[in-house]
Amino acid sequence: MAKLTGKIAVVTGGSRGIGASIAKGLGGEGATVVINYNHSQEQAEAVVEEIKAMGSSAIALQADISDAEATKVFIEKVLEKFGRIDILVNNAGITRDKTFKKMSFDEWHKVIDTNLSSAFNTCKIALPAMLEQKYGRIINISSVIGQSGGFGQSNYAAAKAGLIGFTKSLALETARGGITVNAICPGFIATEMVGEMPENVREAIIAQVPMKKLGAPEEIAKGVIFICESEYMTGQCLNLNGGLYML
Ligand SMILES: NC(=O)c1ccc[n+]([C@@H]2O[C@H](COP(=O)([O-])OP(=O)(O)OC[C@H]3O[C@@H](n4cnc5c(N)ncnc54)[C@H](OP(=O)(O)O)[C@@H]3O)[C@@H](O)[C@H]2O)c1
Repeated sequence: MAKLTGKIAVVTGGSRGIGASIAKGLGGEGATVVINYNHSQEQAEAVVEEIKAMGSSAIALQADISDAEATKVFIEKVLEKFGRIDILVNNAGITRDKTFKKMSFDEWHKVIDTNLSSAFNTCKIALPAMLEQKYGRIINISSVIGQSGGFGQSNYAAAKAGLIGFTKSLALETARGGITVNAICPGFIATEMVGEMPENVREAIIAQVPMKKLGAPEEIAKGVIFICESEYMTGQCLNLNGGLYML
């Protein structure tokens, strides 16, 4: 039997890249998957169709998860439709890379709101339901940049490091309630986010990775499934980074 049959999973930013892989991975293990997107409706619907073709259920729901009120409406809609949320993957994220000197206030706030406050926004509404059902798996997609820092990424590194602190604190507060809260810190993964980097920057990054290659989005999906299955792991960061950063 599939590992996650009967589970209701929500993946923010599930329309593309790592989120789409996670959604398909969860669907492949039998979970019913809610794919959140902001702009990429067609791509989100395509992920839904792929999951349905595997024999699992899926729907796509639009919401800008950097907006607390829109996120509340979104999560409440999921709870109304399915009655529970078992797995919440806070994956949606953006970059607005600039050196600190050139970074605008808007670039700072947009990245913090989308990568960090979004997890507060979803958990704020989903967690009471998880506590009531005495079961939950919250998985926050952070980044190696939240651990090492990144040149031109003070906004992104702050958001991703914040997500690690948020993960550990929420794990402490929920540990007795049947809920685990963990983070995944991917290294450089082959998605549009990395594709948008200048070629020379991407090549320089690959040269620094001990494995000398980008990671596949499916590797992150495998990590999510591992965390979903684990009963005793909470407050941890799963580092999937090709050896780029060793803790
Ligand atoms: N790629 C990497 O190397 C890497 C490394 C470490 C960590 N990460 C993290 O992994 C996550 C996924 O990255 P990715 O590379 O897959 O990025 P991506 O290909 O750019 O996809 C980003 C996803 O986030 C969604 N999104 C962005 N803003 C949103 C918002 N306000 N509300 C709802 N959804 C929103 C997008 O949805 P729409 O298209 O519908 O707007 C899209 O589905 C991010 O948190 C990223 O920081 C990535």
